[in-house]
Amino acid sequence: MPQSCQIRGELLARCVNENAYGIGLAGCGTVGMGVLRTLKRNGALIQQRTGGMQSFVVKRILVRDAAKPRSEEFAAELFTTDWRAVVEDPEVKIVVELIGGTDLAFAIVTRALELKKPVVTGNKALLAERGREIFALSLKYNTPIFFEAAVAGGIPIIKTVRESFVGNRIHAMTGIINGTSNYILQRMSEAGLDFQSALGEAQKLGYAEADPTLDVNGWDAAHKAILLATLAYGFPIATEDVHVVGIQQVKPMDIEFAKQLGYVVKLLAVIREHKDHAVEVRLQPSFVSRNHILASVNGVFNAVAVHGDAVGDAVFYGRGAGQDPTASAVVADLVDAGASLADDLVHRGFLPWREEGKLVPIEQTETAYYVRFDVTDRPGVIAEIAQVLADFKIGISGTHSPVNPEDPEAAFVDMVFLLHRCPYGLLQQALQRIEDLDCVNAQPVVFRIEQL
Ligand code: NAP
Ligand code: HSE
Repeated sequence: MPQSCQIRGELLARCVNENAYGIGLAGCGTVGMGVLRTLKRNGALIQQRTGGMQSFVVKRILVRDAAKPRSEEFAAELFTTDWRAVVEDPEVKIVVELIGGTDLAFAIVTRALELKKPVVTGNKALLAERGREIFALSLKYNTPIFFEAAVAGGIPIIKTVRESFVGNRIHAMTGIINGTSNYILQRMSEAGLDFQSALGEAQKLGYAEADPTLDVNGWDAAHKAILLATLAYGFPIATEDVHVVGIQQVKPMDIEFAKQLGYVVKLLAVIREHKDHAVEVRLQPSFVSRNHILASVNGVFNAVAVHGDAVGDAVFYGRGAGQDPTASAVVADLVDAGASLADDLVHRGFLPWREEGKLVPIEQTETAYYVRFDVTDRPGVIAEIAQVLADFKIGISGTHSPVNPEDPEAAFVDMVFLLHRCPYGLLQQALQRIEDLDCVNAQPVVFRIEQL
């Protein structure tokens, strides 16, 4: 080895011991374990890349069940069930929160900020629901909180919107930002799996939340959309102001019918600034043209299409969930957290920059629609539904009533209407009236047909 390299190697080794940042890791499940393994595998590389400045030593690990068998790679004495022992350990300089949920996670994050310990988290539910309080504490204690892993797994979309696009007015962000639901839709479509089996696979692969309800009811994606919108437009957005519909009601026939029309079904996050600067934020199963780039985002992959006034269109694509991709994002944040300590807490995290902003009421948002009705099959059903739509001046571009090949005489059928573009509020009023018709047996299921 040349002498200069040897000296550099020795210097680096000394740095590891003297300057390594102590980490308190709260949570050692899918992502936490991924972080430990990534640091073990690439710790020396990270140190080289950061000019010898950044190395990390895990000092304590919080888990719920201390008796659970853990990988033998990590010393048993690191593990504890006492969260204060992790956060308040004087050797812990950076706190990484990867337990999920919003109660204990809030206590951990806020205590760390009070102690002026930078925080890294992947917890979108926590930030979407309690971000206002957390960001206020971050400001108060001049201590950053980093959350790249909270949105779109391994895709560096937070850093991109916060830093790389800081010179842009963001006009729109459209994305597939839940890996589990995207995986389920694809497995239902291509492998003909039923909903529960597809969800079971996503859970086994480590994509789903501890409570997978959040994945399928759209709320995990909604939490992420709230974070992206807050980042782009600078004001806190309350969860109750966001319109969210999940994929629970998607049937194979919807996917099949979309395919025949040249679309694919995606759970789409739409974030868009209107001319009056009000912001539209919504989540709903949507028909996306098969020619659009988002249509080819399959399985656990996520993508976010951003339109900025300077950059124009840009699309970010990658794995949106899973152990290693998410660990990649957490470790990147760790390096930023370390740099913030070295810079005497120069703020590199993110804070909303204004208190007030306006959201577009969901009733005023407009698209075309696909609506599926569960109806009693008798003559005149189509005419009855069409009459109500006509009363509300909603145009129909097509109808379809697939016959069940196993029971062509079935009395109950699903009937599909394709509707012209109109305000969502108007559609809701019409659908309420239609639901009151004798021939309609259940609440109609609505998909947006997006023009992207
Ligand atoms: P996970 O596999 O369920 O792991 C959770 C970990 O936290 C476990 O080690 C668990 O302890 C510990 N824990 C949970 N509740 C606890 C409590 N009350 N007290 C002490 N320890 C507790 O979850 P994950 O998939 O790694 O997700 C962690 C976070 O990352 C969540 O906020 C999630 O939304 C986010 N995230 C996940 C992904 C992904 O692909 N999985 C991607 C991006 C972001 P035990 O080991 O003893 O059970
Ligand atoms: N459950 C989430 C998903 C994990 O499936 O996208 C990544 O945030």
